[in-house]
Amino acid sequence: MGPTGIQHHQEAAPRPWQPSSWRAHEASQLPTWPDPAVAAEVRSELSKLPPLVFAGEARRLTRGLAQVAEGRAFLLQAGDCAESFDDFSADGIRDKLRVILQMAVVLTYGAGVPVVKVGRIAGQFAKPRSSPTERVGNLEMPAFRGHIVNDDVPIPSARVPDPRRMLRAYHQSTSTLNLLRAFTKGGFADLSQVHSWNQQFVAASAEGRRYEAIAEEIDRAMRFMKACGVDLSTDSPIHQVDFFTSHEALLLDYEECLTRQDSLTGDWYDCSAHLLWVGERTHAIEGAHVEFVRGIGNPIAVKLGPSTQPDDVVQLCERLNPARVPGRLTLVSRMGIDKIRSALRPLVKAVADSGQPVAWVCDPMHGNTFASGSGRKTRHFDDVLGEIQGFFDVHRSIGTWPGGVHVELTGDDVTECLGGIGDIIEEQLPLRYTTTCDPRLNARQSIDLAFRVAELLRSS
Ligand code: PEP
Ligand code: CO
Repeated sequence: MGPTGIQHHQEAAPRPWQPSSWRAHEASQLPTWPDPAVAAEVRSELSKLPPLVFAGEARRLTRGLAQVAEGRAFLLQAGDCAESFDDFSADGIRDKLRVILQMAVVLTYGAGVPVVKVGRIAGQFAKPRSSPTERVGNLEMPAFRGHIVNDDVPIPSARVPDPRRMLRAYHQSTSTLNLLRAFTKGGFADLSQVHSWNQQFVAASAEGRRYEAIAEEIDRAMRFMKACGVDLSTDSPIHQVDFFTSHEALLLDYEECLTRQDSLTGDWYDCSAHLLWVGERTHAIEGAHVEFVRGIGNPIAVKLGPSTQPDDVVQLCERLNPARVPGRLTLVSRMGIDKIRSALRPLVKAVADSGQPVAWVCDPMHGNTFASGSGRKTRHFDDVLGEIQGFFDVHRSIGTWPGGVHVELTGDDVTECLGGIGDIIEEQLPLRYTTTCDPRLNARQSIDLAFRVAELLRSS
């Protein structure tokens, strides 16, 4: 209330913003670098290194996400929970890309909607943790915070944060992105290659054969178009794919150094990735992470867990997208199978009532993690699918658009999530459990999931 007793509804004029504004805000989940002088040196070096992405590319993704917000496209955001310094190879990147391309083909062909493709890749190195420490045997040690901060080896000395890791993360991101650009623009992602994306261990399975059938139909459609005289040789959407990168904007020291002013518009962009998101643990409205992403021109996303209140979300929308630009803001719910319906409905209603244009996306992974008997973190395929089903139901009943899915996956034949067509059981988890953080869907489970989501989309 003002001094006259009249309530002031008008928002104050937006505060000025700089890439370092977040430093005046309370920050959770950030490491304390043991030697501030080394951290300062690294920051200075990072600030001089070239951007990984360009502002124009980020704006192109915003336009794609505007289509998602308007119900005319679907977002597929997928990749590792945490990229690893140790498990880094061209084959690994290629295999992840091909699963994502396969899923996108299944969704596009199966549901007839354009798919915006965004990887959790080329920068997804920092991890928020529920607890600052971890117990291994009798030893209590600092938690692993992602390879950009410390090492996952369970030795206390390996867990000491090292700012030089930011440079390594930057360089690994550049070479990953370089390869992704080559793959997506240089022929690998050409639609005439749809068959070759089907890896052997997938092709032999039921969902692999189902994929093969679609690939065959696409071939036939292309032969038909050619026979009709359509010149496919110059038509670039057939031969090239727009593939964007994303990661959690968690380690703000790093993000600040990669934030550059666009020479065309004068606006600031975080050039470490096309899309940045704020996690469930760091979306406090006055916190450092929200303050940081408020000022960057990239499309941004916020993860929302089951304790999120409708007012919080509307406030986040106003703070992060005051100009109400479609595609600027994506909201990613991660409620868990038991809570998805009751927790998501009030949020979607509140945002719809506020008139804010957002893209709604479902992360069916992070609310469904549990410890298996052996203590390994896992997720069940049925819970993942069930949460997506609940997400679709909520949107269908309100009349809003279920705009996409955000999943953790790998192209490898891992045994990290239970169930699915291959029906992985608890006893099989140790066989190929290689994630550095959360359990991922393997290639077969991922393609199976894409078919199920395509069915949901078709019936929407
Ligand atoms: C993640 O995406 O890996 C993650 C930690 O998610 P959330 O912030 O939703 O828990
Ligand atoms: Co994760």
